[in-house]
Formats: sequence, C-alpha cells, structure tokens
Amino acid sequence: MSVYKKVVLVSGGTSGIGLGTIEYLLEQNSYEVISVSRSAENLSLAKKKLGPNASKVLFLQGDISKENDCNKIYEEIDKRFHKLDGLVNSAGITKLGGIEKQTLEDWNHSININLTGMFLLTKVLLPLLKKGANSSIVNISSVSSEKAGGSISYCTSKAGVDMLTKYMAQELGKYNIRVNSINPAAVYTNIYIASGDYTREEYDEWSEQKASSYPLGRIGDAKKDLAPTIELLLSDKTLWTTGARYIIDGGKSIAK
Ligand SMILES: NC(=O)c1ccc[n+]([C@@H]2O[C@H](COP(=O)([O-])OP(=O)(O)OC[C@H]3O[C@@H](n4cnc5c(N)ncnc54)[C@H](OP(=O)(O)O)[C@@H]3O)[C@@H](O)[C@H]2O)c1
Repeated sequence: MSVYKKVVLVSGGTSGIGLGTIEYLLEQNSYEVISVSRSAENLSLAKKKLGPNASKVLFLQGDISKENDCNKIYEEIDKRFHKLDGLVNSAGITKLGGIEKQTLEDWNHSININLTGMFLLTKVLLPLLKKGANSSIVNISSVSSEKAGGSISYCTSKAGVDMLTKYMAQELGKYNIRVNSINPAAVYTNIYIASGDYTREEYDEWSEQKASSYPLGRIGDAKKDLAPTIELLLSDKTLWTTGARYIIDGGKSIAK
C-alpha cells in the first residue's frame, strides 16, 4: 500500500533553517521535499550534508525575488506533482546597520528578498497550494519583527512578514490554507557569513557570547529547535491554527 506523502517546498533549503527543516522532514518519511535556492555552491554543500538522503530531495535553482524564476519553479512542480501541500518560506538574507550605515542598495536587497520574494513565491505557487490537501504555509519571520536592533532593513522586512502572514491567513482561510509564522531569536546558521558581516570565527565567538543572555543558555539549532514546530504546522495536527506567530527564542524575550 502506498503512503500519502505531503509535497512541501522549502525556500532557502540549502542552508541554515531551511536545510535543518528538510533534514527533519526527510526523517519523518511522510513528505516529498522540494528545495529552492540560488547558488550552485550552497546546493552542493547541502547535498554533501544530506548524504544519501539528498537523492530524495528535488533541488530547484532560482531566485525567489525574480518573477521568471518563480514561474519556472511553478512549472517544474506542476509537471512533477500537480499540487503542493506545504510551503516553508525560509529564504532570507541580512546586512547589519541602521539608517546611517545602510545604503539604499542594502535596504532594497533585504526588502526584495525577505518580503517581496516571500510574497511573490507564495503568490505564484498559490494555484498549486489550492490543489493540496489541508495546505499550510509557514513563514520564517524573526523576533526582530518587533525588536529594533542589528539591521534596519532586516527588522522592517520581518515586521512586513508578520503582516503578510496575518493578511494571507485571513484571505486564504476560505481555501482551507493555513498561514503561520515562526519568529526565532538567534539560530546558528550561515546568515551572517553570507552577508559578509562576520567571518566564521567571529560568528562562532559572537554565538558563544550570546548564549548567556538566553534563559536556556544557548542560541538555537535549526533542526533540533525549529524544525519540529515547522513540521507540526505543516501536518494535519494543526488544522485550526492560522494567523499565529510562534516565538521560539530559548526564552530570550522574557529574559531580564
Ligand atoms: N539565523 C538566525 O539567527 C535567524 C533568526 C530569525 C530568523 N531567521 C530567518 O530564517 C531564514 C533563513 O535564514 P538562515 O539563518 O537559515 O540563513 P542561511 O543559513 O544564510 O540560509 C539562507 C538560505 O536562503 C537562500 N536564499 C537567500 N536568498 C535567496 C533568494 N533570493 N532566492 C532563493 N533562495 C535564497 C540561501 O541560498 P542561496 O544564497 O544559494 O540562494 C540559503 O539556502 C531567513 O528568513 C532569516 O531571516 C534567521
């Protein structure tokens, strides 16, 4: 007897939170997983990390902030699966700095990928999500959506993601599509290495220093600390949950 598997696309699936989510989803054995990201380098690193499980993932290359790329992603999924049951919008970038330091280019880059890209990919894939069973969208926002600091364009983009989540949850309920967000504090990934803000050594040092400001004594791990909640939201165990924000932060926001 063949087991029904939900088809789930994870944007930013070749690194950090996206990759940790994919690793976890594959372990559940109840998901067909698609990964979307841009660079061939991250793609080959992700394949190496997944090992033999990499062959179970459909890797598509594309930039979520480009309409043409999103349309190609739509066509590929339509051809292979004809539907989508889940979308994890994890692709994102950052660049440190406030209004005095950030250039218009820095600003546009973050808003284009973190906010417009999330809107665009979701919009293009909506016809496939409508064909899915109990479809669920999980947007990766951040505690920075409410707390100013670090990067002005990043914080603003994540504040936008929270409203995008609420708006879509309200609008798409009539199709039985749920939309929720995960708002993490610091999680150990490649985001600051990719932005050029830190070297790996500096980031490791920063992560160690940060640990003591968390009641649970450490920053987060993508697969262990976030993926189980993301999977819960994708699953049929949360059919009456929409428009919700899951703050997963090791207690950071309630720390003195
Ligand atoms: N790390 C944290 O502390 C933290 C905390 C809260 C929220 N978040 C959020 O979590 C999400 C994932 O970040 P991360 O920390 O896991 O970062 P990461 O390790 O740098 O991973 C980012 C992923 O997104 C992909 N990506 C970036 N821009 C893209 C684009 N335009 N089109 C398609 N794919 C793109 C990257 O691959 P390519 O570069 O090859 O495209 C990579 O696979 C982001 O939305 C971030 O804001 C992170």
